Amino acid sequence: MYWPTSLPLLCSSLLPLVGGAFAQGDKHYAIMDNDWYTAGFVPYLIALDGDVDVLALASDTCDTWQPQAALHAVATLEAGNLSCIPVYPGSTWPLINTPLRFQAWETIHGKLPWQGAFAPYNATYEAEGNDPTSGNPNRIVKSAFREGFPKGKPDNSTSAANFMVEMVHKYPGQVSIYSAGALTNVALAARMDPQFASLAKNLVIMGGYVDLNMLQATGSIMQADYQSDINLMMDPEASKIALTADFPEIIVAGNVANQVFPTQEFVDEIKKAGNPYSELFAKYYDISFPFWDETAAALMVDPSLAINKTTVYIDVDISYGSPNYGNVHVYQKALAPAGIRNVTYVFEVDADKLKQRIKHSLMHPKSCADL
Ligand SMILES: *[C@@H]1O[C@H](CO)[C@@H](O)[C@H](O)[C@H]1NC(C)=O
Ligand SMILES: *[C@@H]1O[C@H](CO)[C@@H](O)[C@H](O)[C@H]1NC(C)=O
Ligand SMILES: *[C@@H]1O[C@H](CO)[C@@H](O)[C@H](O)[C@H]1NC(C)=O
Ligand SMILES: *[C@@H]1O[C@H](CO)[C@@H](O)[C@H](O)[C@H]1NC(C)=O
Ligand SMILES: *[C@@H]1O[C@H](CO)[C@@H](O)[C@H](O)[C@H]1NC(C)=O
Repeated sequence: MYWPTSLPLLCSSLLPLVGGAFAQGDKHYAIMDNDWYTAGFVPYLIALDGDVDVLALASDTCDTWQPQAALHAVATLEAGNLSCIPVYPGSTWPLINTPLRFQAWETIHGKLPWQGAFAPYNATYEAEGNDPTSGNPNRIVKSAFREGFPKGKPDNSTSAANFMVEMVHKYPGQVSIYSAGALTNVALAARMDPQFASLAKNLVIMGGYVDLNMLQATGSIMQADYQSDINLMMDPEASKIALTADFPEIIVAGNVANQVFPTQEFVDEIKKAGNPYSELFAKYYDISFPFWDETAAALMVDPSLAINKTTVYIDVDISYGSPNYGNVHVYQKALAPAGIRNVTYVFEVDADKLKQRIKHSLMHPKSCADL
């Protein structure tokens, strides 16, 4: 079912032409769904810098609970005068998973180095200014808003899933669905409206690692963390629904998301720009992690960034009794089971071009005055 609701006028609809270069019909729109955090603004800056019209941010539960993530989205938008982009709250709960169910699975199948929102509640950790885990999903931990606690609120006039459905009907074939957290909202949209996926332009996800189990065993805990795929594991059933939906194309930034790392020199260079985003990036971006969400965002803006990729059929393991619960399994066409589909699986991106996109978007960030 598809329930149209009245929508607020978006800032983006006031200016249909970007530099006069594109007619409305050629425009590339995006709805960006993520588990937003203090330094999580780079993906939408990359999109805006690449002339993608960001219709909204959506929040999901993955690294922390959805309500906290939604407020981080509002706060980071406020930091750079981007509050004309609305934030629609997504589902707080995964389709089936819960902290208790996840922790019980870990008892049998082994711990994840990073457990996201499903890590056991730890009052000390939270008091140190970290985002909330387990416990009451609606509590807000203000001390974790190192970017500043937002003045505004998420727009609760509709849900993330409903907004996604409405926008693909409004701009058929033009809306990218970007997901760099759990896929709960994308799955809900796909189930709510059978036309949703086919009317989108594509689905671009961060996550979906393959063939990294030995590295998880022989590498450091940090390396095991890089390969543990929390985005898909947080809500395995939603991951399966999203990755089997009939989007015209699905781009998977899995292993490739671990390819390119920031360096201190890179951060120092960006800091010189002296704008609120470059300052926040310099202060809070943890350079021990690769450009996960940024790689996926840049691939959404410019798929030609992929210099080595393949097409594979993909499935998600949804057996709770499996150590691979929530991980993907890939097939060639001739051997693929019924009910799954092909995706573009990226192996390698042009690292220099990716870093240039990140750098430019942070040194010359768009604000609502430009949109
Ligand atoms: C944001 O807007 C305010 C008011 O228009 C302005 O004073 C400020 O310089 C802007 N900041 C940025 C980062 O664009
Ligand atoms: C809770 O968090 C503190 C501070 O980060 C940490 O030192 C401690 O080991 C954590 N406790 C557990 C049980 O993980
Ligand atoms: C939406 O937000 C308003 C204003 O913050 C609040 O009063 C209302 O209860 C919220 N509605 C829902 C459904 O969360
Ligand atoms: C592309 O990536 C695959 C998987 O890592 C690798 O086997 C192959 O050699 C790569 N091809 C090129 C041209 O680099
Ligand atoms: C992927 O699947 C679609 C739909 O079945 C098909 O049209 C397309 O040719 C496939 N792509 C590749 C590269 O196999």
